[in-house]
Amino acid sequence: MLLFLASLLALSSGILSLDKLNMCMNAKHQKVEPGPEGALYHQCAPWSDNACCTANTSEEAHNDYSYLYNFNWNHCGAMSSKCKKHFIQDTCFYECSPHLGPWIQPVDQSWRKERILNVPLCKEDCEQWWEDCKDDVTCKIDWHKGWDWSSGTNKCPADSKCRKWTDVFATPKSMCEQVWSYSYLYTTYTKDSGRCMQLWFTGSNPNKKVAEYYLNAAQRGQSFPVFMLLFLSVILFFCNNVLA
Ligand SMILES: *[C@@H]1O[C@H](CO)[C@@H](O)[C@H](O)[C@H]1NC(C)=O
Repeated sequence: MLLFLASLLALSSGILSLDKLNMCMNAKHQKVEPGPEGALYHQCAPWSDNACCTANTSEEAHNDYSYLYNFNWNHCGAMSSKCKKHFIQDTCFYECSPHLGPWIQPVDQSWRKERILNVPLCKEDCEQWWEDCKDDVTCKIDWHKGWDWSSGTNKCPADSKCRKWTDVFATPKSMCEQVWSYSYLYTTYTKDSGRCMQLWFTGSNPNKKVAEYYLNAAQRGQSFPVFMLLFLSVILFFCNNVLA
């Protein structure tokens, strides 16, 4: 009986993880299910084989004040193009990636039902992002909230000042983690480790294997109590029979 229950549990958690390996989050622009997209635009093109974004979203991701979020990258003067290309890549990753399952969390926001939390970023992607932005200027640490939206796009709030990037974000870690309120986790894993997610890649999507690794790691954690239960019941059974 216990054995049956345990295998049922293991099986169902296995099936649940399979879904998590290939899914779209329930947010503002993502598709319901991932699938091929023939014509993804420019920096979003690497996701064409299997994507949560539409062609329209992929093109809009490259625009200032795009219809996606009306977001203003140039809130302290024009953002440099070498910095902006990382925010475009970040948008492609967020909108298009079908392998964010292990890090998707429910969230109580008017504009989305789910968000990502603590996605482990590869060191190179985070550090290059900071490196290319470090001569830029911004007025806020957390770009998710606290803006003045009264004009329809985000402006620096009255109590803030435009400051050097490095005064706002002293390190790559502080930028990657704090700019989107911990959507990302800074790691020291490199792209060849298989333990971190890549914003920039060419060829087949390397992030599926990474998601698989983290799902399996979580499952190993989950199955421990099941095995413990099994182990205990075997001992109990044994004691019962020997003592009786
Ligand atoms: C994407 O779709 C929106 C809403 O339908 C539209 O306003 C916008 O012009 C489209 N953008 C592109 C690049 O096609």
